[in-house]
Amino acid sequence: MTAPFSKPVSKAVFPVAGLGTRFLPATKASPKEMLNVVDKPLIQYAVEEAIAAGITEMIFVTGRSKRAIEDHFDKAYELEAELEAKNKHALLEIVRSIKPSHVNCVYVRQPEALGLGHAVLCAEKLVRDEPFAIILADDLLDGQPPVLQQMLKVHEAQHGSVIAVEKIDPAKSSSYGIVDGAEVSKGIYRLNGIVEKPQPKDAPSNLAVVGRYVLSSSIFTHIRNLKPGAGGEIQLTDAIAALLKEEPVFAYEYDGVRYDCGSKLGYMKASVEFALRHSELGADFAAYLKNRS
Ligand code: G1P
Repeated sequence: MTAPFSKPVSKAVFPVAGLGTRFLPATKASPKEMLNVVDKPLIQYAVEEAIAAGITEMIFVTGRSKRAIEDHFDKAYELEAELEAKNKHALLEIVRSIKPSHVNCVYVRQPEALGLGHAVLCAEKLVRDEPFAIILADDLLDGQPPVLQQMLKVHEAQHGSVIAVEKIDPAKSSSYGIVDGAEVSKGIYRLNGIVEKPQPKDAPSNLAVVGRYVLSSSIFTHIRNLKPGAGGEIQLTDAIAALLKEEPVFAYEYDGVRYDCGSKLGYMKASVEFALRHSELGADFAAYLKNRS
């Protein structure tokens, strides 16, 4: 058997099969990961973060009505031909750079929405025995360097799995995975436990899991052995609770800002912040906001 961290991290799993009911009617026929922040869909921000971290294989775990995601990362012959014919080179470049040629996108279906752990298990045959990243696109993370890159540095230094966390208001613990750990260096905690969506009185800390993980492939065995957990779902958090009994798992308080684009308020905040710093739009948008109050 290969040691869990002897191979570099070159694959990222994007679980994108969720129904996105919080954004209905917008998500009735189109995936929530295709919701747009200014001029890019959430899933593209997530893939760009993975590319910045050196990931070359993007594994999307998809479901019904998610074809738009495949189309987005596929070559668009007609569109490219049209832009070329009209000499719209800048736009052509934007379209072509969505998926750089060294990056490979593969798709696997999650036949039933049985939970995040189950979605990750659907990628097992593609990940095989390598450590890998998981990115939940509705957590839009704004960090410099990008957060997954920061996490890979921690993973290399600590030789263990790494989960991104942030401090939350304890009253909100029932919306997150919450970790229990001992700080080993600034912002890095060796985990002793992790619980999915505990009530505030049962939460072991105020450190909440954010949608970025770097995990050893042993996680698959643990997911396979799980019984349904919180909400009747196969929870990734429960598999991590089993993994940390056998291998080192760390929580990392990343440097950056999180926008919870799974909620309408978080999504609107991201839209405003990203618009304000947009190269073409920022100054006019700032002036608009200033003048309207
Ligand atoms: C999932 C995880 C949870 C984590 C959260 C981060 O929950 O199960 O542990 O804190 O993502 O966004 P979900 O938001 O899918 O219910």
